[in-house]
Amino acid sequence: MIMKFRVGSYEEYKQAYAASVNDPSGFWAGVAEEFLWRRQWDKVLEWDFRKPDVKWFMNGRLNITENCLDRHLATQGDKPAIIWEPNDPGEPHRTITYRELHEQVCRFAAVLRRNGIQKGDRVCIYMGMVLELPVAMLACARIGAIHSVIFGGFSAQSIADRLQDAGAEYMITCDGGYRGAKDIPLKATVDDALSVCGFVKRVIVLQRTGIPVTMTEGRDVWWHDEVAATEGSVTTAEEMDAEDPLFILYTSGSTGKPKGVVHTTAGYMVYATYSFVNVFQVRADDIHFCTADIGWITGHSYIVYGVLCAGGTSLLYEGIPTWPDAGRFWDIVGKHRATILYTAPTAIRSLMAYGTAPLQGRSLASLRVLGTVGEPINEEAWHWYNEYVGGKNCPIVDTWWQTENGGIMISNLAGVTPAKPGYATLPLPGIQPVLVDEKGDVITGNDVSGNLCIRFPWPGMLRTTWGDHERCRLNYFAAYDNMYFTGDGCYRDEQGMYRITGRVDDVLNVSGHRIGTAEVENAINMHEGVLESAVVGFPHDVKGQGIYAYVIMESMPDDDRHMHVRAAILVTVTEVIGPIARPDKIQFVSGLPKTRSGKIMRRILRKIAEGEMHALGDTSTLLDPAVVDEIKRTKV
Ligand code: PRX
Repeated sequence: MIMKFRVGSYEEYKQAYAASVNDPSGFWAGVAEEFLWRRQWDKVLEWDFRKPDVKWFMNGRLNITENCLDRHLATQGDKPAIIWEPNDPGEPHRTITYRELHEQVCRFAAVLRRNGIQKGDRVCIYMGMVLELPVAMLACARIGAIHSVIFGGFSAQSIADRLQDAGAEYMITCDGGYRGAKDIPLKATVDDALSVCGFVKRVIVLQRTGIPVTMTEGRDVWWHDEVAATEGSVTTAEEMDAEDPLFILYTSGSTGKPKGVVHTTAGYMVYATYSFVNVFQVRADDIHFCTADIGWITGHSYIVYGVLCAGGTSLLYEGIPTWPDAGRFWDIVGKHRATILYTAPTAIRSLMAYGTAPLQGRSLASLRVLGTVGEPINEEAWHWYNEYVGGKNCPIVDTWWQTENGGIMISNLAGVTPAKPGYATLPLPGIQPVLVDEKGDVITGNDVSGNLCIRFPWPGMLRTTWGDHERCRLNYFAAYDNMYFTGDGCYRDEQGMYRITGRVDDVLNVSGHRIGTAEVENAINMHEGVLESAVVGFPHDVKGQGIYAYVIMESMPDDDRHMHVRAAILVTVTEVIGPIARPDKIQFVSGLPKTRSGKIMRRILRKIAEGEMHALGDTSTLLDPAVVDEIKRTKV
């Protein structure tokens, strides 16, 4: 399906951008008209960032799954909606058409209702990258339940925290999941989480790996049994208000507890689809291979919602880039003739480490557009991607955005607007970025750096953080008056192109995953014998940023015990958060550099972790300057 709102030239981009700033309501109404509504909106936008209170397409009524599925049936029911490639290349892949996906979603929606799930209920989904994961999400959306997908790498403790925060009484999971050579015991992890979440009434379990699992009578049911036992299907989707929540997605911030970012129905739908079609310059026959996990926002928008709303074909891969070997991505591209590849710089860097041999004998000729997301891309990785994957023939879109944004915010549009390595380049129509200085004043002109804010609402923005609206205000709308603060630093070059320079808050970006330093510190502090810890990032060749932890123990471990204690701390962090939060380096110290008021001077710790011992700056205000010498001396 080709949508009229695709801008096809640089000129058209400029016109669309100008229109979106001069008349935002008129502009977005024009975009929204291309979707399927049960009832038209009365008013396009009402907003007040100070509260914050943002409403798009007021009193419009719709169901997003009718946009993802039903409306394609007449024109392209037999087109593949999702191609699923299993972890094991020996297992057959599965292709599901729009008609089949529609049927499965309607049927599973009936299963959800049969299990007591109603509009507004929260449903946590903890599954591997199987075809049934989008089915589960869409089935929730079909009946108006709010899904919250939890990345399959998170620990039982993390699941429990999210279930509690969302007040979710329902879960959907798998017996296990495949990722490379590993079998992940998903249901066993859920069982651990539920040992402290007695309020969960029902767990629906999909059989994927066949590993033995414990099924708790009265609570746990099998997906296949439920589908077999359910009569009928939800052919009439629940009518939702434009501003009804669609999903919650937890993400890390600078405080210890992850927050539940809330996206609502219509605005998210419009923005995810608009950005998908424009950034990738989507065509009717595209096969879109987004390698992100659906547990992150990238998967929500560019494997599921945006792609399906646009009537595209999404390629969903269960496994990891390097299994069974480092040519797997290229095999998948060749096998399914993928035309768009959207991945993270960390994946590119990890594949670069294998050289170009894995690319030999694999056909990448189908590729038309390449994309990156999640972290700044270094020039070396950009050039490798361009030369060896794209054959210098595919535009690379460097897409900057965040969980809170719903869709891509700053990016070149493939082949339409100019690219520049290392730069996200220009804002999408509808997005009004500004750079702000420490005092909160907007920095005008070009060749300037500042903190990146957005000064006008866009349809895909978060509306609140679940259960704690004040937290949303404080996190995003309180730093600068009447603006959304991204937490990123940014440079605008002479031509007005944007380059994201990284987080300016205490959030790390490890392999494109957002991790709060406070979260990791909390986890380390839970380890027996730990008195205090401080976590900072340091440059890492593959991960972009690595995690460096300074730890004070009740009694300093002697050299023989260092390894043992380090390993034990890693186990604790894995249990509390998950493997992605494991520190790369742990240094035992007897004290931390603190100001007289007791605040840890992270700037100093960061410099030491980066190996820039001579650039520590003024340390005279420290309570105990000698501690810095010790930390420098014992750096790992
Ligand atoms: O620091 C920015 C970085 O990732 C952060 C958002 O993380 P998350 O919410 O997990 O979403 C990731 C995928 C949408 C941002 O604050 N980031 C994301 N994309 C880029 C980026 N940094 C530089 N360039 C990008 N293209």
